[in-house]
Amino acid sequence: MLDRQETGKLTSEMSIVYNKTPLLRQFFPGKASAQFFLKYECLQPSGSFKSRGIGNLIMKSAIRIQKDGKKSPQVFASSGGNAGFAAATACQRLSLPCTVVVPTATKKRMVDKIRNTGAQVIVSGAYWKEADTFLKTNVMNKIDSQVIEPIYVHPFDNPDIWEGHSSMIDEIVQDLKSQHISVNKVKGIVCSVGGGGLYNGIIQGLERYGLADRIPIVGVETNGCHVFNTSLKIGQPVQFKKITSIATSLGTAVISNQTFEYARKYNTRSVVIEDKDVIETCLKYTHQFNMVIEPACGAALHLGYNTKILENALGSKLAADDIVIIIACGGSSNTIKDLEEALDSMRKKDTPVIEVADNFIFPEKNIVNLKSA
Ligand SMILES: Cc1ncc(COP(=O)(O)O)c(C=O)c1O
Repeated sequence: MLDRQETGKLTSEMSIVYNKTPLLRQFFPGKASAQFFLKYECLQPSGSFKSRGIGNLIMKSAIRIQKDGKKSPQVFASSGGNAGFAAATACQRLSLPCTVVVPTATKKRMVDKIRNTGAQVIVSGAYWKEADTFLKTNVMNKIDSQVIEPIYVHPFDNPDIWEGHSSMIDEIVQDLKSQHISVNKVKGIVCSVGGGGLYNGIIQGLERYGLADRIPIVGVETNGCHVFNTSLKIGQPVQFKKITSIATSLGTAVISNQTFEYARKYNTRSVVIEDKDVIETCLKYTHQFNMVIEPACGAALHLGYNTKILENALGSKLAADDIVIIIACGGSSNTIKDLEEALDSMRKKDTPVIEVADNFIFPEKNIVNLKSA
């Protein structure tokens, strides 16, 4: 892991693939119980925090390959979501060739966005695992390995990704300091959890400053893709067979093992929110602040609007001068119209179901305990 001096170096080198984002005070309607600061990751080049970690992975690997001087780096990613777009955006900035395999469920808008960066887009597979398998077995294994060195980009499970995400904590610590705010006032950090890459980065950043034991993280998921919550409840990592949530960016079948270990080590809190509540929050936020957000981001912001949930998760009442930081993780996949339509169909109880894996037992339950499977 990077020490603080190395992080400074990383921050200056990395600015080409990600932006330093603002940490701004935000007032949510209602009785203020604490001060909220939002970390505006939606202002990243790809519209989400993924630019940090995926940018770091790509840039580090490309530098290593180029220093070696024997082969040319080429990037391969599997994700129809923000991770694929972040890989494509980083490659555009670094002038690297990039191929992204997206599952068939990927919205045309997202395919176009990825393609517009100059990346090659291949549509294959009903869900991420199938797209990923196609990438590895039908694309990456066909390259000329005498001249090309592939850089494989997983959406969340890679230490270089976590290292890149951790840079947001450096910025937060620096920003608090420059605003003369004591870090002791920070009573929690709220982030959404999909596979746990964002969460791992936050923990690693906090560890660097000796804060991981002192600042609790509240990980938020939506009902139907609450793999993190279920894993913690059961006490072992679990895998979901189906994702039945509107927050598709949080819809991974598993969390990284590192996420599970960190969560137990640091007593991370886990909150699960209903889709309808999250969509209502997204729309509320969009109307209030003129920024369209994805449900993955709305899940975390929901706790700014609903401090009771936050206080329950933290296990204590917040005082007026306590600070809570919410990671506004961003996301580029939806419009305001999508949010309105989603709310409409939810009112008609028309919940989408996305298959994420096909090899599970215990059909009566959506989950399977990995260790006993
Ligand atoms: C906008 C957004 N927020 C949150 C997440 C969850 O991130 P992670 O998978 O690193 O937990 C994702 C994942 O794609 C995302 O796109």
